[in-house]
Amino acid sequence: MYLGIDLGTSAVKTVLVDDAQRVIASESRLLATASPKPGSYEQDPAQWIEATFATLDALKASHADALAAVEGIGLSGQMHGATLLDASGNPLRPCILWNDGRSAAECRILEQRWPALRAATGNKAMAGFTAPKLLWIARHEPEIFAATKLVLLPKAYLRLVLSGEAIEDVSDASGSLWLDAARRDWSDAALAATGLSREHVPRLVEGSAPATTLRSELARRWGMARPPVIAGGAGDNPAGAIGIGAIQPGTAFISLGTSGALLAPTSTIAANPDRVVHTFCHAVPGMWIQAGAILSAASCLAWAARLFGVSEAELLAPLGSRPQAPSPVSFLPYLAGERTPHDDPAARGLLDGLSHGTDREMIVQAVLEGVAFALADCRDALADAGIAIAEADVIGGGSRSPFWLAVLAGVLNVPIHRFAGGETGAAFGAARLGRLAVTGEAIPAVCTRPQRAETFEPDAGLAAAYAERRPAWRELYRPRH
Ligand code: XUL
Repeated sequence: MYLGIDLGTSAVKTVLVDDAQRVIASESRLLATASPKPGSYEQDPAQWIEATFATLDALKASHADALAAVEGIGLSGQMHGATLLDASGNPLRPCILWNDGRSAAECRILEQRWPALRAATGNKAMAGFTAPKLLWIARHEPEIFAATKLVLLPKAYLRLVLSGEAIEDVSDASGSLWLDAARRDWSDAALAATGLSREHVPRLVEGSAPATTLRSELARRWGMARPPVIAGGAGDNPAGAIGIGAIQPGTAFISLGTSGALLAPTSTIAANPDRVVHTFCHAVPGMWIQAGAILSAASCLAWAARLFGVSEAELLAPLGSRPQAPSPVSFLPYLAGERTPHDDPAARGLLDGLSHGTDREMIVQAVLEGVAFALADCRDALADAGIAIAEADVIGGGSRSPFWLAVLAGVLNVPIHRFAGGETGAAFGAARLGRLAVTGEAIPAVCTRPQRAETFEPDAGLAAAYAERRPAWRELYRPRH
């Protein structure tokens, strides 16, 4: 029996997976995000622990025998966040999240201080990444910087609480800007450029390798016979890849979660930082992931639902199963700024083309199309790195909407596939990593491809209409600085 814990942005989700890779139980608890200023996003790390423990306590109550048999735990987490700890391992301030845009100036400073940054990390210095956040702290909260003894990504903080050890996996570490992506090790030069050294960062392991074990008092709390092994785990995007067996080149997929991404596993680094392609180590050895990442995907739909005062399901229902033509309204999804392709934390959303005849459905369709157009920008940036996308699987909450998948197929003009149900996603991928860390099985034997439930073929007329619309959509973006 294995546990996968995904410390996401909107919730912690924990799944219990049996030896036949069936999800036998799942629990989640919502998380709140604070926005102290426009474009700033923070979470209290204590909330992550409370939510994770609540999921495990609930599993103990409902599935005590299965939980007792857990041998391996995998962790997945929202990437890039900066959790700053003092000498006693206590958080010094709220964690600054992956979508936080406050450190744009520090990105420029970082690239000046360390000109090899793009070549070594495969990434452009961007505000969401961890390293520029530390420079921001040094400049704006110097007393906190001085007290910082350890910097952890969110799931490494969770692992510290679960195990007592500070350990990170290389896939999540790639989102820090302190990792040499080719060597899969910290870069001393990168750390020095932010006034830090290896003492300030955790030990590294591969995602599928054993990292540590659960504290024995926690194992007792959850009735586990022996303290389970905790695997390296992965950032949420690489963990999602593991969940659908995307461990080979040619298995590109789209994640439609709070954030969005178009991700392509590769066996060599195919970086394109100038076009804002992200380079991550994969969660299995010898593989990498090149990705275009957008900061707002399903969160745009959540925003629209809040605005109209209805649920997301109620927003989507009147749209039907597929669009007949593009909406007369256009939407820029940059509600939290944007990474690929603009790298512009100051970018903001936009609704264009409103008239007296505009109704709610036109706006909702425009929101879904705007996210799809942003993913088409990611596709173009990947193509510029030599990665062609001929088809894509979709995971994440957004994949539940057939209408959205039909839009994606039309905008990207490639077949879009979705899977049958629950046994995908970052928490399931994390559970697979937990299993690999225990059994040492061959990775492809565990990271199999789930059955595709449905394929959305691009409709030629719709694809042509979207291709015609796209240049005007791209013109809507204007840098604000
Ligand atoms: C990826 C990214 C997000 C976060 C939150 O670069 O910033 O996907 O991992 O999900």
